[in-house]
Amino acid sequence: MDKVSFGYDQKHIVVKNLDLTIDNRGLTAMTGKNGSGKTTIGKLLAGILKPRSGHVFISGEDTKNMSLGRIGEQVGYLFQDPERQIFTPTVSEELSFVMQLKGYQDKIIEEKVEEMLDMFKLSHLKESFPFYLSRGEKQRLALASVLINRPKFLILDEPTTALDIKRKAELLEILKVLITQGVGVLAMSHDHKFVTGHATRVIEVVGGEIYHDTAAKSMG
Ligand SMILES: Nc1ncnc2c1ncn2[C@@H]1O[C@H](COP(=O)(O)OP(=O)(O)OP(=O)(O)O)[C@@H](O)[C@H]1O
Ligand SMILES: [Mg+2]
Repeated sequence: MDKVSFGYDQKHIVVKNLDLTIDNRGLTAMTGKNGSGKTTIGKLLAGILKPRSGHVFISGEDTKNMSLGRIGEQVGYLFQDPERQIFTPTVSEELSFVMQLKGYQDKIIEEKVEEMLDMFKLSHLKESFPFYLSRGEKQRLALASVLINRPKFLILDEPTTALDIKRKAELLEILKVLITQGVGVLAMSHDHKFVTGHATRVIEVVGGEIYHDTAAKSMG
């Protein structure tokens, strides 16, 4: 993003003249206090919010000229609150509905759904009502629903908040696989240990500005 400023209302500027490029290699971690602007920056990068001034580019294309559908083909976004992206009556439909919209064959959809259920350990909940899942299960479902569409970039807003130690380790394994497949991952998190221990780059945000940006140690 190029000289991006943004505020939710006229009075308060949340993001100030921000220049930032996230490349599609490795795990970039974004840290910062509550209210520092991490979620806002993530939504700007994902084209969910449009900048008041400046430009956000995704693979060289200005998000101003891109539909959300077009952006969605490139960038997968996991909301801080996973309930915000649950829409359907069953877990398996939650996973399949975008592929159905895109008109994939049923057999291919079914295979991908099974693969995701397996990868995220959700097979036993296949026919459950997503709204009644535990928070950690909802978070895994939301991430699986994003990944099934094979985005080139993945933006995860606080992906570990609802996860226990075992699930965190599993998430990390999944992220490592994605990274070796060439998916760029940006994770906003308070979870310093998770994020800084495994990131290839750490960006610290203070008051909507980049306070520190380091190429941390490579993914271990
Ligand atoms: N929809 C909104 N309307 C008005 N102000 C908002 C809105 N969303 C966020 N803000 C404000 O913008 C600022 C940055 O919020 P943001 O959610 O980006 O921070 P954050 O770093 O993600 O915080 P957290 O660590 O709590 O997730 C905060 O001061 C917040 O009050
Ligand atoms: Mg946030």
